Amino acid sequence: VLSGQCPFGGDRVGGAFATPPTLEEWYPDRLRVEMLHQNGPQANPLGPDFDYPAAFATIDLQALKADIKQFLTSSVSWWPSDYGNYGPQMIRMAWHSAGTYRIADGRGGAGQGLQRFAPISSWWDNGNIDKSRRLLWPIKQKYGSALSWADLMVLTGNCALEIMNFPTYGFAGGREDAWEADNATYWGPELWDPTNVTSFDEMVNRDKRWRGKNGDPDYDLEQPLAASHQSLIYVNPEGPYSNGDPLASARDIRITFTRMAMNDEETVALIAGGHAFGKSHGMVKADRIGPPPDIAPIEAMGLGWHNPVGTGAAENTMTNGIEGSWTQNPTTWDNSYLENLFKHDWKQTRSPAGALQWEPVDPDAPRTPDAHIAGKSHPLMMMTSDIALKTDPVYHAICETFLADFDYFTLQFAKAWYKLTHRDMGPKERYVGPEARIENDLIWQDPIPPVDHPLVDETDIAALKSAILGSGVSVSDLAFTAFSSAASYRHSDKRGGANGARLALAPQSGWAVNRRTVPVIETLRAVMAEFNGKAAGGKKVSLADLIVLCGCAAVEEAAKAAGVATAVPFVPGRMDTTAELTDEESFEWLKPVVDGFRNYVDPSFAEITRGRVAPEQVFLDRANLLALTAPEWVVLTGGLRALNLNHDGSHHGIFTDRVGVLTNDFFTVLTSMDYVWNKADEAGLTFTLDAREGGGTKFTATRCDLVFGANQQLRAIAEIYAGSDGHARFVRDFVKVWHKVMMLDRYDVARVPTAS
Ligand code: HEM
Repeated sequence: VLSGQCPFGGDRVGGAFATPPTLEEWYPDRLRVEMLHQNGPQANPLGPDFDYPAAFATIDLQALKADIKQFLTSSVSWWPSDYGNYGPQMIRMAWHSAGTYRIADGRGGAGQGLQRFAPISSWWDNGNIDKSRRLLWPIKQKYGSALSWADLMVLTGNCALEIMNFPTYGFAGGREDAWEADNATYWGPELWDPTNVTSFDEMVNRDKRWRGKNGDPDYDLEQPLAASHQSLIYVNPEGPYSNGDPLASARDIRITFTRMAMNDEETVALIAGGHAFGKSHGMVKADRIGPPPDIAPIEAMGLGWHNPVGTGAAENTMTNGIEGSWTQNPTTWDNSYLENLFKHDWKQTRSPAGALQWEPVDPDAPRTPDAHIAGKSHPLMMMTSDIALKTDPVYHAICETFLADFDYFTLQFAKAWYKLTHRDMGPKERYVGPEARIENDLIWQDPIPPVDHPLVDETDIAALKSAILGSGVSVSDLAFTAFSSAASYRHSDKRGGANGARLALAPQSGWAVNRRTVPVIETLRAVMAEFNGKAAGGKKVSLADLIVLCGCAAVEEAAKAAGVATAVPFVPGRMDTTAELTDEESFEWLKPVVDGFRNYVDPSFAEITRGRVAPEQVFLDRANLLALTAPEWVVLTGGLRALNLNHDGSHHGIFTDRVGVLTNDFFTVLTSMDYVWNKADEAGLTFTLDAREGGGTKFTATRCDLVFGANQQLRAIAEIYAGSDGHARFVRDFVKVWHKVMMLDRYDVARVPTAS
């Protein structure tokens, strides 16, 4: 550095590490492979050995709940509690933490405390929930790393319900916090700001997340979204595009709550149950409110939505913009929400902030107390989305049932709340704590009966493997069946996987992508019957275990044929579940649209995606749902191609003459300049690999094959396996990731290493 000169040179610093424009601005359409490493171990201050569920299990839950309950009926000056009770605002926090869940890809939900990070932390719908979490900090601080934010938010919602006399159904801890923002979940396009939109129709037309228009029979929301607008949890409380139309609001509620995996009765229970408590806040016009947390000034210290009026809190609070309460007793569990909704006729009015809302037509209707000023009262309030429950005929009928039977309503709300807040936790083995409910009567928990027999030992395993290999089924078909069984797993909500042998049950047994497994399963059933018929002492092998074992046998054979002796680990203990314990409709969501591992693209792909997503992007999505790192994704696919795991037995990507042998041929061909790659169809979905020096087409491929040579990050990894020293590493790494995939759902055994 020359003395006296700024080490940066020039006259000013224009940027620093990670200052935009970054790759995301330069090449917005590139495949963001690095997203597989989001929330990786480097981001976790607790280190890889920290066992969160074990830490949570050390907490005295009753003592923790007592601390939370004591806090709930307190009040601090920087954010006073409404009615002297923080309960309602905490219920909303817990609901919003869980309510981002969507069944299409299992993402969202309460499981990782993602409400703490962008973009969710700054969604308009999460207004002032930053205050709710900050109010809880002393409790989080007291329990430290043994209590995750994710668990604390849900548990506080339960405690809030309980102090207001609502009997909750249960609580399980075990949600491990994320440590960074989720930069990859697709939350859909934004059309919240109607600037320059001149008509309602134009607004609807411009909103790309909806297909069709209000009234069209195929009016629907694009997948995998479950919110009617970007930055909302579910629907606009003022009706679609704030149009105040209750019937249209009901339609949006049905679409969005169905995407949250809730049926009509659960939907009504949740909304009517939730709005029995608390109030909406709309005292100040939205344009006076400061920016959300992620773009607030640094001195705001992570808090957003600064309200300049009065103290900015208490009687001046501005959150959503609608003002008022639904009931006369906003801190007591009773049936007055539904009673008010049905007893009165409602007319539209505006809040002080200008939001569209409803009040009773009858001026003598009961009133609700002010949340802060003694002696003051207000007319009751309903939102357009509340009036929807009365207007829609199906919701109306459910409300009438709830009105007539308060105990029934109470139980339905309790169960729906438990489902809402635990839906994304996956197998019950992940539930921690004395209040967890694990009965097999909750179908959304995808029940699997507990192991009820002695398991196979090493001798049995060897005998079963040779029976499988002697059954006449090819190595390729065996591996295909095992992989298909395990690959339904998704790490987002921990559903699917090999345990339970649901591959052999509807709906999975009927999916086109699984067709090859049907005869294999028949053969395996015979092997199973033979073994179980003879085994002594009640010993048994389950179909679920046998399917996985057939994969072990196949991979070992394929490695042996490639000259590498290897043992694929096998951990028995899976059980077979039943059709009665399987919610077919909800499992249908696990059906892949694209499964590049098995070179499957659903025939409706182009129509579903309207050309906006390429197959390899959905393949990346699948890799993420299987919790794979980029190297794992690459080596797994290369091995599957060597074994020919294409769903239809086609030759795409089978860059070898030795099918069923665990060679690294896929990578050597992929990286070889001996070929030119040519489109084989107009849309560029399939390709030929033609010998550069003449000799015609040698191989064919799909985008889900070529991406490993075309994408820079994937190619860098493929080169390792194509190297002259790559084969042994390839076999070793393939076996490792194969075992990982087989074990992804085994929360009964051990904590599974994951990428995210
Ligand atoms: C408050 C909308 C469903 C629980 C609110 C507020 C809005 C709203 C706009 C006012 C926020 C504020 O300004 O403070 C909706 C819509 C729903 C829905 C459109 C679906 C159609 C639910 C559900 C629950 C729930 C399912 C819980 C089970 C609450 C609670 C409050 C609240 C407890 C009061 C918060 C407080 O007192 O601070 N809701 N909500 N809501 N919501 Fe909902």
